Amino acid sequence: MKISSLTLTNFRNYESLKVDFSDKINVFIGKNAQGKTNLLESIFYCCIGKSFKSIKDKDLIRFGCEEGYINLKAERKYRELKIEVKLSKSHKKTILINSLPIRRIGELIGEINVVFFSPNELKLVRESPDERRKFMDIDISQTNKRYFYNLSRYEKILANRNKLLKTSDNLEYVKETIDIWDRALVQTAQKIAFERKKFIEEIMPYTEKAQTYLSGGKEKIELNYACGCGVKLDEKFEENMDKLLKKNIEKDFKLGYTTIGVHRDDIDIFLNDVEVKNFGSQGQQRTVALSLKLAELESMFNRTGEYPILMLDDVFSELDAERQARLLKFVDRTQTFITCTDDKKITGKVFEIASGKIIKQN
Ligand SMILES: Nc1ncnc2c1ncn2[C@@H]1O[C@H](COP(=O)(O)OP(=O)(O)O)[C@@H](O)[C@H]1O
Ligand SMILES: [Mg+2]
Repeated sequence: MKISSLTLTNFRNYESLKVDFSDKINVFIGKNAQGKTNLLESIFYCCIGKSFKSIKDKDLIRFGCEEGYINLKAERKYRELKIEVKLSKSHKKTILINSLPIRRIGELIGEINVVFFSPNELKLVRESPDERRKFMDIDISQTNKRYFYNLSRYEKILANRNKLLKTSDNLEYVKETIDIWDRALVQTAQKIAFERKKFIEEIMPYTEKAQTYLSGGKEKIELNYACGCGVKLDEKFEENMDKLLKKNIEKDFKLGYTTIGVHRDDIDIFLNDVEVKNFGSQGQQRTVALSLKLAELESMFNRTGEYPILMLDDVFSELDAERQARLLKFVDRTQTFITCTDDKKITGKVFEIASGKIIKQN
């Protein structure tokens, strides 16, 4: 998978940009607040259909403008792709694949696979389970559309169930009517939980390999899928989860929301038998987060036969020289986009960025 060119019109601080990329390493250098991350964001948007920042689509349109536009050309193994995003302040956005508008984001996801890493990704090992669920969801969805649709289905069912719990003041009524949601919830939860478990098992050896490689020593890493459904992942999953939902109905009724389900999932991460979230050093946490991302690369290759594109936003400055060198060697196989504030002597196509313009390139 390769991105060959990108055109931006009134996107963030870019009034107009046209750029051709290298198949290997692309480096964006420049001072702070010049537009390096914005550039990555526009590419990411074409892959996932939303930003890696939690923002509104309209925020992507250049200040003072009504419309913004991204046009990205890419090559996959056997075909070429053109992805266009039309953003408007007054209309819904439109996304086109090879000039045909799509009806839902699910049609876009998986066209170009991407792995994104920034210092913010430390949250992945350090903060709430939310980040780790997002990690699983973005990854799995990119190679499994059914998973993506199941996720949105699950969210809708959960919202309906919660609405019933929250708005009704009659427990007996809730008990009588909730079964319709419970049945749908356990079916979808089962599909999501089994995919997540499979994913964790798949990335585990890759994570360990990357961790060992980056740290230059043998470190034992363990990932454990902690399912929030409270039941074993076996053939009785749906039946058992349903029972548990019924058992907890009074509690859920009191709280006004559902306490059991895949929306409560987490990944426990251990390094040399110690939980990284609470006991790992900052350096260890950073390496683990990066290892997880590199594991994504390998496992996506394993699933699709093509390497996804890799984006490393501002992470170089945070690694020591040896890790930088190791990382560069590791990413040799995949098209990579790197941003940094000074010339780190990375061999690749270097673009210098200032105030939303490319002022120099080699
Ligand atoms: N919608 C927008 N319109 C115009 N400028 C924007 C918009 N959104 C962000 N910016 C500007 O983009 C700059 C930040 O760009 P960014 O890519 O994050 O910088 P960096 O080079 O540090 O990665 C800031 O100056 C900000 O004001
Ligand atoms: Mg930045």
